[in-house]
Amino acid sequence: MTTGSNDQAHISAVSEQDVDAVAQLAREIWYLHYPGIITVSQIDYMLAQRYQPDDIASQIKTDEAWWDKIAVGPELVGFAGYETGSDAASVKLDKLYIHPRVQGRGFGYALVRHVETRSRERGFSRLYLQVNKGNTASIAFYRRAGFAVTEKVVVDIGNGYVMDDFIMSKQLENPVP
Ligand SMILES: CC(C)(COP(=O)(O)OP(=O)(O)OC[C@H]1O[C@@H](n2cnc3c(N)ncnc32)[C@H](O)[C@@H]1OP(=O)(O)O)[C@@H](O)C(=O)NCCC(=O)NCCS
Repeated sequence: MTTGSNDQAHISAVSEQDVDAVAQLAREIWYLHYPGIITVSQIDYMLAQRYQPDDIASQIKTDEAWWDKIAVGPELVGFAGYETGSDAASVKLDKLYIHPRVQGRGFGYALVRHVETRSRERGFSRLYLQVNKGNTASIAFYRRAGFAVTEKVVVDIGNGYVMDDFIMSKQLENPVP
């Protein structure tokens, strides 16, 4: 299904055939991006918790969690995962990843705009996310996309690990510029 595009990239829903490639892309991006923000052992733990291909395949069959991918030609370069939020009006943008070799080309904005459009179409009016307090570039990106920090949280995710995060949110009547 074609759901959007910019000059070079094509956004579409993740299908069952895509889930292995999405999980593999997540591993690549996480090991490039997160060392220095969280430990490698926490990266291993969180990837195992959040990116099992079978779990992704189950989620995309529901009407409560959505995954979309962005490709340049045949090459998968990023993805977004989002789901019904903590209240009936909200969607949680749980995952937003663009491979470092193509960051800074507008693909992140394109995916956020896409998630916003899809969420509005589904009747939601607020989008929020959690981002590590040390993930400075991504926090700046989200601010430019219209999100503001609304809360600070420390979430115990088991095995002695925590997510030390900001919650950032935006109302959906203010689309990405
Ligand atoms: C955050 C992320 C999704 C943004 O995607 P992107 O394709 O790089 O973003 P865009 O090209 O659409 O850039 C939008 C803006 O962010 C800026 N930007 C993008 N990456 C940046 C970086 N690493 N450092 C500083 N600024 C950056 C761009 O210059 C642009 O700024 P502008 O509006 O002033 O022109 C992507 O960089 C990413 O996957 N980061 C690593 C993983 C991550 O932390 N994800 C979020 C988890 S909560």
